[in-house]
Amino acid sequence: MSRPVEIVRTDRLIIRRFALDDAAAFHRYRDDPEVARYQGWDSPYSRQQADAHVADFVAAPVFNPGDWTQLAIERVVAPGLIGDIGIRLEPIEPTAELGFTIAREHWGNGYGREALNAVAELLLDDIELERVVAFTHRANLSSIKSLHHAKLVPIAVDGDEIVYYRPRGEDLRQRDPRGHGARDRAQGDDGREEGSSTTPNDPQ
Ligand SMILES: CC(C)(COP(=O)(O)OP(=O)(O)OC[C@H]1O[C@@H](n2cnc3c(N)ncnc32)[C@H](O)[C@@H]1OP(=O)(O)O)[C@@H](O)C(=O)NCCC(=O)NCCS
Repeated sequence: MSRPVEIVRTDRLIIRRFALDDAAAFHRYRDDPEVARYQGWDSPYSRQQADAHVADFVAAPVFNPGDWTQLAIERVVAPGLIGDIGIRLEPIEPTAELGFTIAREHWGNGYGREALNAVAELLLDDIELERVVAFTHRANLSSIKSLHHAKLVPIAVDGDEIVYYRPRGEDLRQRDPRGHGARDRAQGDDGREEGSSTTPNDPQ
C-alpha cells in the first residue's frame, strides 16, 4: 500500500494524512478516559466509531474551508500513529482553529508542542493565514503548556475554556505587558529550542 501523503515534517515527527490501518491505534488512545477528559468525544469510544471516523478522515479533502481536516502524527524513528491534529479553516476569515491529541504513553516528550508549532508555521508562513486559534479547558495544564511553547497566547475566556491565539509574524510571548519592550526569548522558557518544521509540503 502506498504511504499516506505527508503534510509537514519536523526533526522528530511526520504529520501526514490518515490511513485506514491507523484505526486500531486511534481507537486505543481515544478510548483512554485520561485522553478524553477535556475533549469533545465521550469515553468509552468504540472500535466501530474509530473505524468510521478514520474512514471519514481518509476520504475528506485537505483544508476545505469550514470542515475539520484531521491529520495523523507519527514519529520519524518508528512508524505508527501516536496522535492527531485537527485543523479547521474558517470559511471567510483567514483563521484556522487547531485541536490536538497525543496518546498517553507519549505525553511529556514535547511531541504536542512540536506538532502544533509545525502546523501553525505551515498555516501562517506558507498558507499565509492571519492567525491560528485553539480552545482549551482552563484545568488542562499540559495543553496550556503545549500551546504556550507553540507560541500561542491567551486572548479570551469563555466559561471554563480559554481561547489561545497566534498571529502571523510576531511572537506575542515576547511582549512585555508593562510596555518595556520585547524580552529576548528565542528559546522556550526551559531553555530548550522550540520544535520547528523543516519541510512544508481531520476534530476534536
Ligand atoms: C495536550 C497534549 C496533546 C500534550 O501533549 P504532550 O506531547 O505531552 O505535550 P508536551 O510534551 O508539549 O508537554 C506539555 C507540558 O505538559 C507537561 N505534561 C505532560 N503530561 C502532563 C500531565 N498529565 N499533567 C500535567 N502536565 C503534563 C509536560 O511535561 C510539558 O511540561 P513542560 O512545558 O514543563 O515541559 C496531551 O496531554 C493530550 O493529548 N491530552 C489529551 C487531549 C487534549 O486535552 N488535547 C488538548 C485539547 S486543546
